[in-house]
Amino acid sequence: EYAICIVGGGSRYTPDMLAMLCNQKERFPLRKIVLYDNENERQDVVGAYAEILFKEYYPELKELVYTTDPDTAFSDIDFALMQIRAGRLNMREQDEKIAIKHGCLGQETCGAGGFAYGMRSIPAVVEIIKQIREKSPECWILNYSNPAAIVAEATNRIYSDDKRIINICDMPIAIMDMYAAVLGKKRKDLEPKYFGLNHFGWFTNIYDRETGEDYLPRLKEILKTPVDVQTEPLFQEPSWKATFKFMSTMIQDYDEYLPNTYLQYYLYPRKMFEKQNSDYTRANEVMDGNEKETYERMETIIALGKIKGTEFAITEDVGCHAEYIVDLATALANNTKEVFLLMTENKGIIENLDRHMMVEVPCRVGSSGVEPLVVGTVPTFYKGLIEQQYAYEKLTVDAYLEGSKKKAMQALVLNRTVVNTDTAIALLEDLIKANKEYWREL
Ligand code: G6P
Repeated sequence: EYAICIVGGGSRYTPDMLAMLCNQKERFPLRKIVLYDNENERQDVVGAYAEILFKEYYPELKELVYTTDPDTAFSDIDFALMQIRAGRLNMREQDEKIAIKHGCLGQETCGAGGFAYGMRSIPAVVEIIKQIREKSPECWILNYSNPAAIVAEATNRIYSDDKRIINICDMPIAIMDMYAAVLGKKRKDLEPKYFGLNHFGWFTNIYDRETGEDYLPRLKEILKTPVDVQTEPLFQEPSWKATFKFMSTMIQDYDEYLPNTYLQYYLYPRKMFEKQNSDYTRANEVMDGNEKETYERMETIIALGKIKGTEFAITEDVGCHAEYIVDLATALANNTKEVFLLMTENKGIIENLDRHMMVEVPCRVGSSGVEPLVVGTVPTFYKGLIEQQYAYEKLTVDAYLEGSKKKAMQALVLNRTVVNTDTAIALLEDLIKANKEYWREL
C-alpha cells in the first residue's frame, strides 16, 4: 500500500485524478492520499469533495489529508503527482494577451506565452522538489507541470542526479485516444513509435500490439479528411475540436509522419494568429467553462453529501490526464515494463541530436525507473526544427539560471512564433512588467 501526494490539490484536474485512484485501487492500493496546494480556497472544496468520494468509493483508505503546509504534505509519501500552474489562469490570460498584442501567437505552452509561463514555473517547481526531497528523499516525483518541455529541461539540469523525477505530458496520449477512436480500437491495443520534444513531436508508427500491423498508413489516409471524433469531454470543446480537425491540413502538407497537434502553432504561426480572438483567449474559455463547472459540480456534491446514486456517480471514463499519471505510478510500483511516451535525456536514443536534449520518446517503465527505447536518426527537416526549438528551451532555462535578459531575448527570437528581434525585445519588456511578482530579475 502506497502513500501519495497530489501537488496542486486545488487544481480542476484533481477531482478526475481522485476518481481514477478509486477506480484503480485494486492494482494501485493506497493507504494515504494527501492534497497539497499553496492556497486554501479551492483546495478546501476539493478536499471536502474528496471526503465524500472516498467514504463511498474508497472506504479502505486510511488517511486523507489536505494541507497548505509542505512539511506535512511531503512527509512519508511514495509518490508525488505534480500538476501546478504557477500564476494560475489569470497569468495565463496575461501571457496569451500580451503575445497577441505584439502580433504573435497567444498560447499557454507554445511561443511567448509558454516562455513567460516557463519563467514562472521553473522557480515554483524547483522549490517544491527541494521541499519534497527534504521530507521524502526516495519518493517518485511524477511531474505534469507545464510548460513541460522547459520544466523538464530545468529539472534535468538542476537535479541532474535525481533519477526519480519523471516529466510527463498527456497530449501524445490524448492524440492516441483519438487514433484509437478512429480505428475502432482501444488506446491500449496500440503501441506507438514517436520522437521529438514535448508538444513538438511526430508519430512514425502505430503498431497493433497483437498483430504487429502498422496502422500509420491507414491513419494518414483517414485523417487527411477532417474527422469529428468523440473522445473525452475536454476534447469536445470547440477549440479542441478545431485543433484535432486541423490535423488534416498538417497531414495533407506533410504526409510522412503524424504530427503532435501543437505543431500547428509552429508550422502555421500566421494562420493560428489570425484564428485567435484577442479579447477572449483559451484562458477565458477555461475560466468561464470547464473550471467554473468543475467547482460548481463539487459544491453541489458537498451540499448533497453524497455521490453514489446521483447523476455525479463516477464512471470508468475519467479522462486521459488522470488515467495516464496513475498508469505511470502503477508501472513504477508493480514493475509492469509498460511503454509510455515520456521526456528523458537523449543520451544517444536519437543518434543525430544533442545527447543532453530532453526528448519525448517511448520509454519502458518498471520499478527501476525509465528506460528509453532506441529511435535511431531523424531526417534533416525534423532535426532542424527540433534543434531550433530545443535551443529556445535551453536558452529559456539559461536565462532563468543566469538572470540573463540577453538570453531571454535570444530564446524568443529562436521561437518560430516570434522570430523578429524587435518584437522579441518589446514583448520581453511587457512580460517582465506583467510577471514582476513571479520572475527572478532579468
Ligand atoms: C493538454 C496538454 C497540456 C495543456 C492542456 C491545456 O492536456 O497536454 O499540456 O496544459 O491541454 O488544457 P486547457 O483545457 O487548460 O486549455
